Parts: sequence; structure tokens; C-alpha cells
Amino acid sequence: MKTLKERGLTSRTVAGMKKDFYDQHSLVQRTLVQELTPILDAAMEEVRLPPEGRPLVMCDYGCSEGKNATSVTERCIAALHRRDSDQTVSVCYNDLFTNNFNKLFQNLSELHAKRDHEFSRRKARRNGPVFEFATGGSFYEPVMPQATVNIGISTAAVHWLSRLPEDARGLGQEARTWRKSLAEQASWDWLTFLSHRATEMLPGGKLVLSILREPNEDSAHMPFELMAEATRQLVGEGVIPAERMENVVLPYYRRSQEELLAPLGSRGDLADCFEVDRMIAATPPVPFQTQFDRDGDTIAYAESYTGFLRAIFEGIVAEQLCGPTPTYSTGELVDRFFAKVEEMIHGEPERWKLDNHWCFLSLTAR
Ligand SMILES: C[S@@+](CC[C@H](N)C(=O)[O-])C[C@H]1O[C@@H](n2cnc3c(N)ncnc32)[C@H](O)[C@@H]1O
Repeated sequence: MKTLKERGLTSRTVAGMKKDFYDQHSLVQRTLVQELTPILDAAMEEVRLPPEGRPLVMCDYGCSEGKNATSVTERCIAALHRRDSDQTVSVCYNDLFTNNFNKLFQNLSELHAKRDHEFSRRKARRNGPVFEFATGGSFYEPVMPQATVNIGISTAAVHWLSRLPEDARGLGQEARTWRKSLAEQASWDWLTFLSHRATEMLPGGKLVLSILREPNEDSAHMPFELMAEATRQLVGEGVIPAERMENVVLPYYRRSQEELLAPLGSRGDLADCFEVDRMIAATPPVPFQTQFDRDGDTIAYAESYTGFLRAIFEGIVAEQLCGPTPTYSTGELVDRFFAKVEEMIHGEPERWKLDNHWCFLSLTAR
């Protein structure tokens, strides 16, 4: 069996995508932020505030370009300032080194301008200052100094794995054969993620997460099936070389609620580090599907759905499937791939409906 390296794959997930594309095509993830608010608001009420004169430190793990991440952190900051209007807050935004941090800082500069405008318009007394930082690196490694974080947040990110199991190959139905090793990798990654946060967090701190959830043992996630079928069709049309089929794996895993709770339960490895406050399983509506159900506009539906998938998977598709061929460049192949996905959704809109199962979780650091 070939190793990942021999197959030309890196062991890390890829964050490459068109600049600004994520912010523009992540309405599905933005809807999740709304779903998370009851848990988030409760955590902001309960989090232990630092001693007087000390900053409160917040870290967002897997922030992407920041439109969604800042909507979460802004809500937290407002809630904290309702508790103590003088509280100084430091917010650190983390993502992989390859992330589009320029867009994050553009979003932050717009937020600052908006805050300034609102304060001058209302002539209100200013709240405690907010300092923003960014840090590149994997959240499967230390991200922040030991015992410094009061609030950790991660939305729609921790289902991405640190690496692919060696036997992972091929999309779609085939994916089920290597599900066990994917589950093992996911279990190790979850433990690693939580262990690093346990080291970074202060007692009484809150860790709030939204994570993709597996609704039942044997269901494959729709993007797996859809992208596998698009690959098969492009191989059939001679656009993509057949031998690349087995290279394609999507390096994420939907954990069950039991898998999420395993290290946190009374006999779990991290029982001494965190207490589970709340866990909510939800299946939020997908905005482009709701719209389609309302107006039946298959063109708009296929376009939005494809944009959503491209914002998440473009880097992976480019790396694993779309190396240049004698006929096409990587860019052309990536365009062909997503054009095929769009054509398929347009042709059979009901068949590819997205299953959108999530888990919202709030933990207290001990
Ligand atoms: C779907 S986006 C979510 C962005 C944002 N939190 C939101 O709710 O819209 C997932 C983000 O997680 C990041 N990510 C994936 N694996 C990571 C890792 N090991 N360390 C840090 N960030 C990671 C990706 O680069 C990507 O920006």
C-alpha cells in the first residue's frame, strides 16, 4: 500500500481557496453562528472574569477570513462589556499559516471603523479597549501560551483532521471501507485538540464549539457522494486521469455525540480538565435549500450550493485531483470540476440535498 507521501499528498489539511471566497460563500456557516448563540450567551454570563485590571483573553480557533468569526467574537465582547464595561479584551484569531489573514485584518479594520462611528454618533462612554491579534498554526498544536485563555471558540473547524489515515483513498461509497481508520484519527485529533486547550485555558474559562455531527453510523456525508460522482464523470469524459480517483479523500470526519463526549466523561482522559455545560444536537436549515424550496429556482440553488462547496473544498480538489495534465492547467481543471458539480446539482436538485447535522458544545475549564 502506498504511503501518503508516495501518493503525493501532504499530511495536513489544505486551506487554499480563492481570496475572499469563503466570506462570500459561507452563509450556511453563518446560520450556525445564530444557532450557537443561546450556548454562547450562557457561557458569557458564566465565564470567570479575570482579576481587576487584567485583560480577558479570547481565542478563535479556525477563524478563516473572519466575517463569521468576528460575528461570534463581537457578540461575546458585547456580552462581557454588559458585565463589566471597563473590561479590556484581547482577541486572538487562529488559523493555518495558509489562511487569508489579509482579509481577516480588512474585516477587523472595518469593525473598528464601525465601533468608532457608533460611539461618536451616540456620544457614549467608551467600553474597555479591545486588542486583536492573529496567529498562524494548527490547533492540533499549542496555539496560545499556557494558562492564558479565558474563552476559546471554534466554529465549523474541529471536524477537519490533522492528517489522513494511510489507508484512506477514494470518495463516495468506497469511503465507508476506511471509515474505521478515519474514526481512529478523529478520536486522536479530538483528544489532542482538547488537551492543548486544557493547557492554554484558565480555570473557569469557557470553550464553545460547533462541530459537524454524524446522525447515524453508516450515512456518508452528501458532499462525499456528490464530489465522487463529479470525479467519476470527469474521469469518464477523459478530463481527469483515472489513476487520480484513489487520491481523493476529504480530510474531515463527522463525530457522533458519543465520540465527542468520550474523553470528557467521568472515565475519559480529560475528565479532570473540563466539565460539560451544554450539548445540543441540531439540524439547522440550509439557507440555499430553504430558498429553493420556496422558489424552485434550480439555477440559483446550484450556483449557491456549488459556491458553498468550492469555498470549503477548492484547495483539496486542486491538490489531490487537479494537478496539470497535457491538456489542462490546474486552474482549468478546478473550474471544470466545480462546473460539473454545478451541472449535476442543477440536473438533480433533490438528489443532492445537503444533510446538515451539527453539535453545539460548551465546556468549562477546571
Ligand atoms: C469552514 S471554516 C470555518 C471558519 C469560521 N470559523 C466559520 O465559522 O465560518 C474552517 C476553518 O478551519 C481551519 N482549519 C482547519 N484545520 C485547522 C487546523 N488544524 N488548525 C487551524 N485551523 C484549521 C481552516 O483553514 C478553515 O479556515
